[in-house]
Amino acid sequence: MIAANDERVNLHMARAHAAIALEGAEKEACREEIRALLKARNAVLVAHYYTHPDVQQLAEDTGGCVSDSLQMARFGKDHAADMLVVAGVRFMGETAKILSPEKRVVMPTLEATCSLDVGCPIEEFGPFCDTHPDRTVVVYANTSAAVKARADWVVTSSIAVDLVDYLDRRGEKILFASDKHLGHYVQQQTGADMLHWDGACVVHEEFKAQGILDMKKVHPDAAVLAHPESPAAVIGIADAVGSTTQLIDAARHLPNPVFIVATDQGIFHKMQQEAPGKTFIAAPTAGNGAACRSCAHCPWMAMNGLDNLRAVLRADDALGQEIHVDPELGRRAMLPLERMVNFRR
Ligand code: 13P
Ligand code: SF4
Repeated sequence: MIAANDERVNLHMARAHAAIALEGAEKEACREEIRALLKARNAVLVAHYYTHPDVQQLAEDTGGCVSDSLQMARFGKDHAADMLVVAGVRFMGETAKILSPEKRVVMPTLEATCSLDVGCPIEEFGPFCDTHPDRTVVVYANTSAAVKARADWVVTSSIAVDLVDYLDRRGEKILFASDKHLGHYVQQQTGADMLHWDGACVVHEEFKAQGILDMKKVHPDAAVLAHPESPAAVIGIADAVGSTTQLIDAARHLPNPVFIVATDQGIFHKMQQEAPGKTFIAAPTAGNGAACRSCAHCPWMAMNGLDNLRAVLRADDALGQEIHVDPELGRRAMLPLERMVNFRR
């Protein structure tokens, strides 16, 4: 395995500042202005489940979408708007731009990155691929445009198992990047021959299996929901493992009244909407005696707010927060991305 660059990830984390939270009349005025600006610019808001509930609510109220990363990509590609406003992290904006080069794609802030993207620089990933020319290169959507351009397939967690299973049945050996936990989970599910890049999500890597087991003693009727970016020990004790959408579905369908949730806490907003009456508890990220039981919130997702969303929509130049992808790179990345959005099992 090749190791991710932790120093680079830490540098980005230090720069991540949570968006300003608006309240009361100020918030309402901001919502109204964004509504009008979206209309005036023929723009649509595409938000991830981890963003602030205010952002998710506005996306739904204005005919946009709130979803997992695969649905975000499909929605943006198929929508007729001239402009996509992507509330999430940078790879989501880049994916939208690559799939719709003719649309303007803006984000509340381009500083919102992802440790899986930062930890897989093309300067190291390219040579890694070159060393293994016999392997099909499958990369997670949480990567840069340049890494996608080097891939045969792009996947998200909602199709990773099915896609690798499909490739394995065709006799292909896989090189998988950039999340080692997702990669090992997929390998365990499919038995495929896989070589892994050593990257991890700074949020999910913190979940602790022992802490969850301790919590289950207090809530014996609880089911555990885990995103596959979590460590193997956490996945091993989960009742449902899947993408954010698949976890929300599990919360709705499983009979348990209580859920211990090993993913970003932003998802609680939609889980509570979809499964009212059920109780959701954040999986612990720390052991006994720690000051914080769970800090599971992505520092980069937290950078999206109503205030900076309004600011980019107000300005004709989007304050420099518009996604631009080199056309040649975009053309190469489009093929594996189109394979992703078109893949159905
Ligand atoms: P989903 O594809 O499940 O929405 O996950 C994206 C992500 O970044 C999880 O941390
Ligand atoms: Fe990346 Fe993890 Fe944040 Fe998801 S939660 S965007 S994988 S850092």
